[in-house]
Amino acid sequence: KTVGVIGCPFSGGQPRRGVDLGPLRIIEYGLLEQLIDLGWEVEFDGHRNLEKLRPTYDPDIGKLKQPRFVSKVCREVSKTVESHVRKGQLALTLGGDHSLAMGTVSGTFAVHPDAALIWVDAHADINTPETTTSGNIHGCPVSFLLGIAGKVEGFAWLKGCLRPEQLVYIGLRDVDPPEKKILKQYGIKAFSMHEVDKYGIGKVMEMALDHVCPDRNTPIHLSFDVDGLDPSVAPSTGTPVRGGLTFREGHYICEAICETGCLVAVDIMEVNPTLQDEASIEETVTIGCSLVRSCLGETLL
Ligand code: ARG
Ligand code: MN
Ligand code: MN
Ligand code: MN
Repeated sequence: KTVGVIGCPFSGGQPRRGVDLGPLRIIEYGLLEQLIDLGWEVEFDGHRNLEKLRPTYDPDIGKLKQPRFVSKVCREVSKTVESHVRKGQLALTLGGDHSLAMGTVSGTFAVHPDAALIWVDAHADINTPETTTSGNIHGCPVSFLLGIAGKVEGFAWLKGCLRPEQLVYIGLRDVDPPEKKILKQYGIKAFSMHEVDKYGIGKVMEMALDHVCPDRNTPIHLSFDVDGLDPSVAPSTGTPVRGGLTFREGHYICEAICETGCLVAVDIMEVNPTLQDEASIEETVTIGCSLVRSCLGETLL
């Protein structure tokens, strides 16, 4: 079993610098050695030079900021993820901001069009170019993946590849009013923190998997935004929201998905090792690594 690791030092989907340093810190912290210790072959693509894709002129399109840059980066990431998944490798993408998921998810779905997408996040990231108030594309990737974003210059390569019933959210607690409307309109399954509190994470995972992977044989792409975790366990991220997943709930999600044997791709996104103090940064980087290990088979016993 081989894991293909893709470092994506990219921050163009949101305004805060530093999230581009996430993948470097996670690798420096020893993730690859940890995966080898878990028994995996590791093919590390290196940290991709995404800066070279920055256009010289990239004015806003409507409200969207740096749209051409984001699009070009995601297009390249998509091809890279696709090539790893096509080889039968588990594709692990280290971000970087969550706009990258347009690339990672479309890459996985190019190989497995019937895959499931499990999105762990405080946010739904389903704003359209019309509904976004921030203009930050990391708040919009899911609308592009669903093909409900409308036509945006430069994004023609990104055909809607995801059907609403292939998607499930876990951990939501900061969803914009127009995003709530979209979730309802398309009947998208979402387990907010309210449902995590009500049912417990064990039952939530059972229900989430029953929805997108009913026979436990659908390939799964997990897109994990570390701000899905509570800021007390993952403080170093650009858009923290209190009331999030505990340390164990976060890991349980990964363990439960690993147990299905269906995992084909994982994203760890929005680790920003320039925010908060050094202890918080280390905590956040550490949890990025341990989430990946849980996804890749580390067990407590
Ligand atoms: N909903 C807000 C927006 O559209 C916040 C999105 C935060 N996304 C993230 N990937 N952290 O800007
Ligand atoms: Mn490669
Ligand atoms: Mn988020
Ligand atoms: Mn996100």
